[in-house]
Amino acid sequence: MEKEKKVLFSGMQATGNLTLGNYLGALKNWVTLSDEYECYYSVVDMHSITVRQDPAVLRKRARALLTLYIAAGIDPEKNCIYYQSHVSGHAELAWILNCFTYMGELNRMTQFKDKASKHADNINAGLFTYPVLMAADILLYQADVVPVGIDQMQHLELTRDIAQRFNAIYGDVFTVPEAYIGKVGAKIMSLQDPTRKMSKSDENPNASIYLMDDPDTIRRKCKRAVTDSEAQILYRPEQPGVKNLLDIYCACTNKTPEEAVREFDGCGYGQLKEAVGEAVVGVLSPLQQRVRELEKDKAYIDGVIKMNAEKAAYTANKTLRKVQKKVGFPERIR
Ligand code: TRP
Repeated sequence: MEKEKKVLFSGMQATGNLTLGNYLGALKNWVTLSDEYECYYSVVDMHSITVRQDPAVLRKRARALLTLYIAAGIDPEKNCIYYQSHVSGHAELAWILNCFTYMGELNRMTQFKDKASKHADNINAGLFTYPVLMAADILLYQADVVPVGIDQMQHLELTRDIAQRFNAIYGDVFTVPEAYIGKVGAKIMSLQDPTRKMSKSDENPNASIYLMDDPDTIRRKCKRAVTDSEAQILYRPEQPGVKNLLDIYCACTNKTPEEAVREFDGCGYGQLKEAVGEAVVGVLSPLQQRVRELEKDKAYIDGVIKMNAEKAAYTANKTLRKVQKKVGFPERIR
């Protein structure tokens, strides 16, 4: 990895079935960014166990997600694609940062409140300190930029606060990360309720297109997408269902909404849905094909996992040792 590039960190959880929204909204963008930045893309399995998981399923999904990163086009030679749990520095730095984070700050996190109400039977301390682990992820690699969706903005703000607080006491230890602002990925909404985000945890399977859905399923889900009774294809907030279909179409074909609206001038919703289905199949089929090919090459994926964990640990440990020294831990004897 070349030094002169800025460092970028992001992570994704391997819980739930990844959707077209995850791909068009985040992953596709990660691929573009991977040319410009020195990127760390983590499969954040340690975050996942803040909610109870089936171990076999988590393991399988974590590997599938890592494979998907590669299939999507992130080069594991030039960037770092790794499991969070393979680099012990995440847990170690998170502990130290816990001691620099206030209960009051964590109490204000809307994701915590949200998840605590959803999992009332398991409001564990990990769920509470989730944002601190996230701060550790980012700060370990001295990341300059972090591409995150709006839902993670509050956590990134907290990360900045923790970094600045630590730096104010001990000197310039951490790079204070910025949110990546630039061309952000498309925000894909549910096919059944276009006012809500397409989610991997949606109860209704018709609401989301999953990345591994076969072509017929994709076409069927598009055909059933909720629209309206306006009977005109315009790109405007008053028609959220149609707008969402156009967004999906544009993200898949790299066209602008204006181009798309012109293209569908005089068409019915049936034609629009059909075109969207084909566009999605056109993007997902080759992606699925690459995933299947990679899955067959166990030795290659294993090699990526091993090499990238070492790469990540090297950088992480540099930061960690500095931090440990700053807070007064005794020197290691070699
Ligand atoms: N919390 C993020 C999410 O659920 C995932 C994540 C973990 C992350 N660590 C991160 C994202 C660090 C960006 C940077 O979406």
